[in-house]
Amino acid sequence: MGWVGTSVAISILQRGICEELLLNDLKSEIAEGEAMDLNHGGSFYPSARVRATSIEEMVHCKAIVITAGRGSVPGETRLDLLRENVKIVQQISAQLKGFEGFLIVVTNPVDVLTYFYQMSTGLDPRRVIGTGTMLDTARLRAMIGNRLNVDPKSIHANVVGEHGDSEVVLWSGAHIGGVRLADWQDWNSEYEIEIADNVRTAAYQIIKLKGATNHAIGLVTATLLKWIFRGERRVVNLSSLISGPYGLSDVALSLPSLVSSSGIERILKVRMSDKESEKLLYSAEVIKKAIQSV
Ligand SMILES: NC(=O)c1ccc[n+]([C@@H]2O[C@H](COP(=O)([O-])OP(=O)(O)OC[C@H]3O[C@@H](n4cnc5c(N)ncnc54)[C@H](O)[C@@H]3O)[C@@H](O)[C@H]2O)c1
Repeated sequence: MGWVGTSVAISILQRGICEELLLNDLKSEIAEGEAMDLNHGGSFYPSARVRATSIEEMVHCKAIVITAGRGSVPGETRLDLLRENVKIVQQISAQLKGFEGFLIVVTNPVDVLTYFYQMSTGLDPRRVIGTGTMLDTARLRAMIGNRLNVDPKSIHANVVGEHGDSEVVLWSGAHIGGVRLADWQDWNSEYEIEIADNVRTAAYQIIKLKGATNHAIGLVTATLLKWIFRGERRVVNLSSLISGPYGLSDVALSLPSLVSSSGIERILKVRMSDKESEKLLYSAEVIKKAIQSV
């Protein structure tokens, strides 16, 4: 229940997607305080009970969102958090015996931790889901939309690979309403380098300004849960254990995934330029090296 956990909680409540929301933090008083505060706003979101509890009690939940662990400070990359945050994986996984719901991993480095949560819980891989580049994709669409004055929901452009410095923007397949981005009037291919750089460094910029990023990831996580619970069968860039597609295996990273009420039902094979494929393989190598370094 730090910056991110609290934003996830309020976004979930406002969407009305749960009957009961259970909160936990290593510092139990923080979870208690947040539960009280959120409870007092109950007149303004669809009915739901909110209370603080132990992780053990959460094993009966439909979904658990993991935001436990430190965020970056200015000058740190997400991979710099690995050593500290990976220790928490063992602590939390040990308390999840019997859990059969969806485990949504948000803590960074999210791809590496998704891999370790998968390994340490042994859950159905369709149900261990890292938010991955769903956030970076939202950032990309927002930035293209701002540049072209088009709503981000009408922009189809994806970020795949690591949620981190080696992420890959798939410019070759980007389009708006069927019009290739490259053919869109007012678009200039020179924007690509600048926008990809701004997407990649967005978190660093926000952390420098306010200490953490929380609202967009809160909205991402609550929306993902809504789509899963409602079985909306959306295609989303999410991180999960990859075994086979794109010649990749034994790594977790983000690829366009069809999400149903069972979780990640299928990973899509999207057309990429040779350069984008190379970058994706490089991104997988970066994550694999981080996994092997633990
Ligand atoms: N995946 C994404 O897109 C994304 C976006 C933003 C932030 N993040 C990540 O989310 C994580 C949380 O960020 P934050 O800004 O909320 O950090 P924060 O320091 O504000 O909060 C982390 C909380 O985790 C708690 N905690 C630590 N160990 C715990 C344990 N074993 N059990 C229960 N609680 C525990 C801490 O007490 C603290 O309250 C970071 O790793 C950050 O990098 C991910």
